[in-house]
Amino acid sequence: MVIPVNLKNGSYDIHISRDSLQVLGHELTQRKGRYFIVADKLAYKYHSGKLHEAIGREHAGIITVHGEEEKNLSTVIKVLESAAMAGINRGDCFIAFGGGVCGDIAGFAAAIFMRGIDYYQVPTTLLSQVDSSVGGKTGVDLKAGKNLAGCFKQPSGVYINTELLKTLGPGEIRQGKSEMIKAAAIHDELLFNSFENSMCIDEDTIGKCVRIKLAYVMGDELDTGKRMILNFGHTIAHGLEKVKGFGVISHGDAVSIGMAVSVQLSEKAGITEKGTAKRLIKLLKSQGLPVSTELTMKELGQAMILDKKMNKGLLKAVFIEKIGKGIIKEMTLDEFIGMGDSK
Ligand SMILES: NC(=O)c1ccc[n+]([C@@H]2O[C@H](COP(=O)([O-])OP(=O)(O)OC[C@H]3O[C@@H](n4cnc5c(N)ncnc54)[C@H](O)[C@@H]3O)[C@@H](O)[C@H]2O)c1
Ligand SMILES: [Zn+2]
Repeated sequence: MVIPVNLKNGSYDIHISRDSLQVLGHELTQRKGRYFIVADKLAYKYHSGKLHEAIGREHAGIITVHGEEEKNLSTVIKVLESAAMAGINRGDCFIAFGGGVCGDIAGFAAAIFMRGIDYYQVPTTLLSQVDSSVGGKTGVDLKAGKNLAGCFKQPSGVYINTELLKTLGPGEIRQGKSEMIKAAAIHDELLFNSFENSMCIDEDTIGKCVRIKLAYVMGDELDTGKRMILNFGHTIAHGLEKVKGFGVISHGDAVSIGMAVSVQLSEKAGITEKGTAKRLIKLLKSQGLPVSTELTMKELGQAMILDKKMNKGLLKAVFIEKIGKGIIKEMTLDEFIGMGDSK
């Protein structure tokens, strides 16, 4: 399957197939130049053979990264210095071979290396295949909050191969399922219904999730309008990730809690159709995802203040009106925190 992406800041294809790495190899042969790999440590350990076989010629250099704890500016500097030492220049490119952490770091480094060079995404986790490799958001965490330093930089191509997912543990698969459930909850009731029967991980389902993400990215590349709907569950998730410490709670788990808390608040406040919270929480739980936190809304609120979705004291809170329909509501943080008490 090939999904074309047409954006103001660049068009590219998302390839979802068993031979997508060969397609990348072909692309690299065509463009000539050298390539520098930013790889997740485990993805590279398990799958470097497949990558190198498909590309068929030597890389100019490689650096490995691992874990949310490394998604920071120090790692970006290491990537930039290593690429410079390897003699990479503007006609060359980066390849991000890993999960969301690796893709976010590599994309950001590519955006600022020599004022920007091309990069290709080879997502190796379920979360990165269904979500983070698509859309061009790149960046790293600051101590003050999640993803606070970054920019938009579209990749030159995305190469998805489900074979790479076979070495993931159930914990990592669960992280991806959280974003898949989010996609269905905000946009596609039929997909949500199918997830209630079973959540299978195949090319077709990954393609559906990618298309949902693209439906919001196209037309709002820079995330000022409807793209924010993709952030369902994320304002609370980012608060949780910050309070607990980056890497202590996984992103998908945090998003799951964020969705569960949000939908209960909005149902109580009359924004969401009755029965929706029960359905969403049941599906999340059935996939082993967490749905509650010991933190109070006040504690979460403190951590949410620096979230990028806050602007001039107002929060763009994302809810679902019902399964398959996301909405944005602008409110103050206090209104958000107090929502559970409103009715
Ligand atoms: N840019 C975006 O639009 C966007 C969207 C959603 C999430 N994100 C970001 O993505 C990150 C989470 O991504 P993630 O869940 O992929 O985490 P991750 O990149 O940390 O990967 C999770 C774990 O899987 C391991 N791993 C990776 N590929 C593997 C493979 N093939 N086999 C075995 N192990 C493998 C990694 O070493 C790591 O331990 C968060 O930082 C989040 O903020 C970004
Ligand atoms: Zn996310």
